[in-house]
Amino acid sequence: MYPLSVEQPYPRQQWWVAAYSSEVSRELLARDILGEPVIIYRTEAGEAVALAGICPHRAFPLSKGCVVGDAVQCGYHGFQFRADGECQHVPSQTGVPQNARLRAYPLIEDAGLIWIWTGGPDGADPSLMPDLHSLGLGREDWAVEQHPLATVGARYTLLIENLLDLSHVTFIHHRTIPAGEKVASIPVEVIETESSLTVQRRGENLPLNPLLALQFPQQSAAVHQHFDAEYLGPCLIRTGGAMYDAVSGQLLGVQNYLHFLTPAGPSRLHYLVNTTRSFGVDRPELGDMQVVMGAKIQPEDIEAIEAIEQVLQSGATLPRGISARVDTGALKVRRRLEVQIRSESQDI
Ligand code: FES
Ligand SMILES: [Fe+2]
Repeated sequence: MYPLSVEQPYPRQQWWVAAYSSEVSRELLARDILGEPVIIYRTEAGEAVALAGICPHRAFPLSKGCVVGDAVQCGYHGFQFRADGECQHVPSQTGVPQNARLRAYPLIEDAGLIWIWTGGPDGADPSLMPDLHSLGLGREDWAVEQHPLATVGARYTLLIENLLDLSHVTFIHHRTIPAGEKVASIPVEVIETESSLTVQRRGENLPLNPLLALQFPQQSAAVHQHFDAEYLGPCLIRTGGAMYDAVSGQLLGVQNYLHFLTPAGPSRLHYLVNTTRSFGVDRPELGDMQVVMGAKIQPEDIEAIEAIEQVLQSGATLPRGISARVDTGALKVRRRLEVQIRSESQDI
């Protein structure tokens, strides 16, 4: 499936962000994940639960049911399913039909995020999750803002490619990102490790722009600023990076933009952004500003990738693809993703 050379659109042996913790309550939350309707709620003890969202009795959407104790009750004929997915009650009979159960998805709740494992339950290894702590999440000494979730009419791979080629900042975001006009002209370096791939741009001696002046009020000299795009798996890309005083070389701070991607289906995705910073932790106005800026910047990316998705869906003959030097990182990530997906089909 474009832009990948494999049929299966996404890997399944994978953790993804299903929801913000704050979205999940004693009410049922409906969310499509990898093409499957899923319902998410909390038990009486507060533990998050994710179950398949279609009733196996007559295919009624369970999101129209309700939570009873720790179980979910179908809104059509009242079958009840426990938090582990087993059917516990069928009205007007004593036993339950054989094999009456819902798929229960392994979840991990951490740093205000609910992660879902979409592969076989035996593979749900927490160590396969990205290291959130190192990115500034779940720590006292960093500030975090959770930006509103957006559901986008485009395949998740288009967002991966958008984020890995930040030269688009100069063109799409020239009105909304300070110093954005410089990004495309900064040379790119690709740094690969086993678990990540970073497309790195190092801005040198950048004059203070209004955003930097607000973030670092004591700063008068120019800054060196990193514009990283780090692929940490199909579920997470980090952009942003460290900023230094250009004269002393001293670290001023790190500003990360954490982009969580979850395929809703083959051509739709959920997009959650968290911003984290290592400086000005006691200055909430810096976070408020990130949220306001994000609300202007994000629709520009969404509009671009939804436009590409419409081209792909139109059935038009695509021109033979060309790539530029700047695409090296994105092309390597395509290969990584293809290898990941292929390895799963060999497992079966
Ligand atoms: S469809 Fe759910 S109980 Fe009948
Ligand atoms: Fe963008």
